[in-house]
Amino acid sequence: MADKPLIIAIDGPAAAGKGTLARALADRLDFAHLDTGSLYRAVGVGVLEAGGDPANEEDAVKAAKTLKANITEKILQNPALRTHEAGSAASKVAQYDSVRAVLRELQTGFAQNPPNGKAGAVLDGRDIGTVICPDAPVKLFITASIEARADRRFKELQNKGEAATYGAVLEEMRARDARDSDRSVSPLRPADDAFILDTSDLDAEAAFEQALAYIESKISI
Ligand code: DC
Repeated sequence: MADKPLIIAIDGPAAAGKGTLARALADRLDFAHLDTGSLYRAVGVGVLEAGGDPANEEDAVKAAKTLKANITEKILQNPALRTHEAGSAASKVAQYDSVRAVLRELQTGFAQNPPNGKAGAVLDGRDIGTVICPDAPVKLFITASIEARADRRFKELQNKGEAATYGAVLEEMRARDARDSDRSVSPLRPADDAFILDTSDLDAEAAFEQALAYIESKISI
């Protein structure tokens, strides 16, 4: 029987740098990568496109089921998922266990069977180390001060030509942190055995080097 895929679980708040890190690690290790936030974003955008309310459980579950039935790589790469509005809608649909249950199957399926026969997978999100892959041999919790994260998100939005002010982004980030951390189901929190990496004063390369050194100390790759 083939060995079980090696899973690297990466969690953390919005704009802490986990997506960039997850992609770089997957590249280096030749592992598959799943940005689980894009699943929630796709559900949020699906609700908005259908004229529904992301804070309405029925609308959100319906969109989650539609996504599960039709999911493709292309849907998850849609630039419309990267907007501020999509992120906000995502954090609203994410509060429902009924939505999370639908998306959980997609995530565990990916972890158990990484696409293209890859030997491992990197999954990044909010509850990968605690709920989706609690047995992952490597768990990273990537964090940064709210000011550093709001500043990064603000610059990202500016680069994309989206209208935004730093103050508004900071305020939305606070609301999003509260929704992600205070919800009753699968709240954002580090797993007990997670390695905590604060990227407030690190660039992407330095964060990558520290994460890789930790991974090499845990598993042979
Ligand atoms: O990482 P992101 O900004 O793309 O995530 C968007 C929202 O999706 C986030 O505010 C909370 C939710 N989310 C979640 O609840 N669980 C995950 N594993 C990933 C994202």
